[in-house]
Amino acid sequence: MKSKNEWRNDPEYLSIVEDLLSQPAVKKLANYTQHHHSNRLQHSIAVSYDSYRIAKKLHLDYRSTARAGLLHDMFYYDWRTTKFDLGTHAFIHPRVALRNAEKITELNKKEKDIILKHMFGATMAVPRYPESLIVSLVDDYEAEHEFFGPLRRMVEVQMSKLRHKRHQRGRFNG
Ligand SMILES: [Fe+2]
Ligand SMILES: [Fe+2]
Repeated sequence: MKSKNEWRNDPEYLSIVEDLLSQPAVKKLANYTQHHHSNRLQHSIAVSYDSYRIAKKLHLDYRSTARAGLLHDMFYYDWRTTKFDLGTHAFIHPRVALRNAEKITELNKKEKDIILKHMFGATMAVPRYPESLIVSLVDDYEAEHEFFGPLRRMVEVQMSKLRHKRHQRGRFNG
């Protein structure tokens, strides 16, 4: 994001996510550290808002992108200390987030895919929609960077690579 609070001045974005932002289950994400410079709510909003803007620019489903981006990390444990028997954090937390997201809103197919596949790169789950790829790339990027500038270009390059691969296999819907 260009600035931390830019999303607050975007009425269209707010109209898409405000019902989610008012949910206690979403507000609670502010109690968890995500990266050294952000809590999980700030991180989720940054991923949601930047992904929304890219999806909008590319004439994709920016509504689903914004909503699922906001809910992609809806889990309530410290990922740096909690360990699981059933798999890695990278594998488990998208499933936990999906289950929690379904408790507070109805999710369409694309929104479910966005949440489940946002660890693409770290896990084998390949995004089915370009919107899912956007959120997974923005999520990686947000962990390292604060500024929006080169992000869109990077997403476009990665997206055309994946689209090319998918088209070869006849599976990419976008
Ligand atoms: Fe995540
Ligand atoms: Fe994330």
